[in-house]
Amino acid sequence: MIVAPSILSADFSNLLQEVKEVRGYGAKFLHIDVMDGHFVPNITMGPVVYKDLKGKVDIVFDVHLMITDPLKYAKDFAVAGADYITFHYEAVKDVIGAIDAIKKLGVKVGISIKPNTAVEVLNHILPYVDLVLIMSVEPGFGGQTFMSNALDKIAYLAAQKKQYHYHYLIQVDGGINKETAFLCHNAGCEVVVAGTYIFGNNDRQAAIKGLLAL
Ligand code: DX5
Ligand code: ZN
Repeated sequence: MIVAPSILSADFSNLLQEVKEVRGYGAKFLHIDVMDGHFVPNITMGPVVYKDLKGKVDIVFDVHLMITDPLKYAKDFAVAGADYITFHYEAVKDVIGAIDAIKKLGVKVGISIKPNTAVEVLNHILPYVDLVLIMSVEPGFGGQTFMSNALDKIAYLAAQKKQYHYHYLIQVDGGINKETAFLCHNAGCEVVVAGTYIFGNNDRQAAIKGLLAL
C-alpha cells in the first residue's frame, strides 16, 4: 500500500519537518488538499504553500484540487512542483479536454468523484488517467467518518483495471484509519490518503507502518 499523508492535518508552522518526518517513516506520497471555498465550503491552500518544499524532501506531490475551475489554476500547481494533479469530475464539463490539458503541463493526472457520484460515470475516462480518487467523505474537511459506499467503487475500479489493463492507481481519501484502510485494501485500493490518523496520532510511525503493511 502507498501511504499519502494529507498535510491538511499537519502543523503548518513546522511544515518541512512534518513532511520529512512522514517521509522518513515510509510515506511515498504527500497529499495536498486545495479548496477554494466555492466547490467545497472551506478554503485551504494554494501552490505557494508547497513550492518551497519541492527539492527538500523526496516525496511525490499529490495535489487534490477541490476547486470550481481546475484548468484556470492547473499550470500554477504544476510549476510549483505537483507530480499528480487530481481534479473533480463534478467540477468540469469537458473532462477529457481537461485531462489532455493537464497532461500537457508535464504532470500525471487524476480524476476524483464525490460520495454521491456513481463510479460508472468514469467509464469512458478510465483509459486516460493516471489515478482515480474515490472520496470516502464529502470533500471539504478532515476528520470525518468513512463512508462505506467507497468500497464497491474501489472494487469496480480494480475489476475494470484488471479487465482492460488500465494503468491508473486507485486512491481513497477521507476517514482512513487502520480498520477502514484494511477494508479498502481488500477491495483493491493501492493508495490511502490519511490526515487525522497520521498527523493527529501520538505514534505517527506506528500509524504509517500499519498502513504500509496492508
Ligand atoms: C477532505 C480531504 C481529505 C482530508 C482527509 O476533503 O480531501 O484529504 O484531508 O482527512 P482525514 O484523513 O482526516 O479524513
Ligand atoms: Zn484530499
